[in-house]
Amino acid sequence: MSLLQIDRLRIAFGGIVAVKDLSLAVAPGAIHALIGPNGAGKTTVLNCISRFYDADAGSIRFGGQELTGLRDHCVADLGIARTFQNLELFGDLTVLDNVRIARHRFQRATLPEVLLGLVRKRREDAEHTERAEAIVESVGLAGHLHARVRDLPYGTQKLVELARAIALEPKLMLLDEPAAGMNNREIGRLGELLQGLRQRLSATLLLIEHNMSLVMSISERVTVMHDGALLAEGPPGEIERHEGVVAAYLGGGHRARAAAGV
Ligand SMILES: Nc1ncnc2c1ncn2[C@@H]1O[C@H](COP(=O)(O)OP(=O)(O)OP(=O)(O)O)[C@@H](O)[C@H]1O
Ligand SMILES: [Mg+2]
Repeated sequence: MSLLQIDRLRIAFGGIVAVKDLSLAVAPGAIHALIGPNGAGKTTVLNCISRFYDADAGSIRFGGQELTGLRDHCVADLGIARTFQNLELFGDLTVLDNVRIARHRFQRATLPEVLLGLVRKRREDAEHTERAEAIVESVGLAGHLHARVRDLPYGTQKLVELARAIALEPKLMLLDEPAAGMNNREIGRLGELLQGLRQRLSATLLLIEHNMSLVMSISERVTVMHDGALLAEGPPGEIERHEGVVAAYLGGGHRARAAAGV
């Protein structure tokens, strides 16, 4: 059974139909890429899954449970975490604090305990800080634990976003262009990191990405959108050679573009 099953999803903004009857199944434990030209509707699909947008029609089931109709925090509680194409970090806080805040859903201390600074709260705080530090280190940012996020390069901030998503210990991670702003060496490390995450956390990844060398090297399945609709779906080797995908998106130059890190 699929972990995530999207059926005939549709959403329009005024006259623009951003997603047209899209169906998509993500297998448990997969790294599944969602690719396509700018404006194809990829981020909108993520926004529907994480309940930032209300779909006009269709269904989104996660582990068999219907998500449409749920509140966005309920989706997070079910074990779905996401990163944002345009970063959603607290720029004035440190890397560590950004990741610690993401773990608040695990904090069991009651409000009176928080207010009184009771022992259980202090112990929990220490545990969460330790866990957050380990997560920051796992994405390669040990040297930036106490750096203010807004002072870091964009590609490094993308890793902080990833760390925040990891901190939620999700079953499904929705990643919107995690490699944006990274150079080739950083993208290589990101690929290893994402594969490691899948192994260590038994997480499933739905990955939106324009860097084709990353997509083709780590994904088992690739779904291609064009103009809001499904254009193709299959293993990376097939998608790379798919005539419609090459015509609409990949062209002849994606390898060259990927090699140039753009
Ligand atoms: N909140 C919104 N209001 C109006 N139009 C929107 C909204 N969100 C998305 N759209 C439109 O829906 C279409 C799909 O946008 P979307 O951001 O999903 O594309 P994308 O595939 O993620 O593109 P990119 O690769 O550039 O990030 C675009 O035409 C966009 O302008
Ligand atoms: Mg997008």
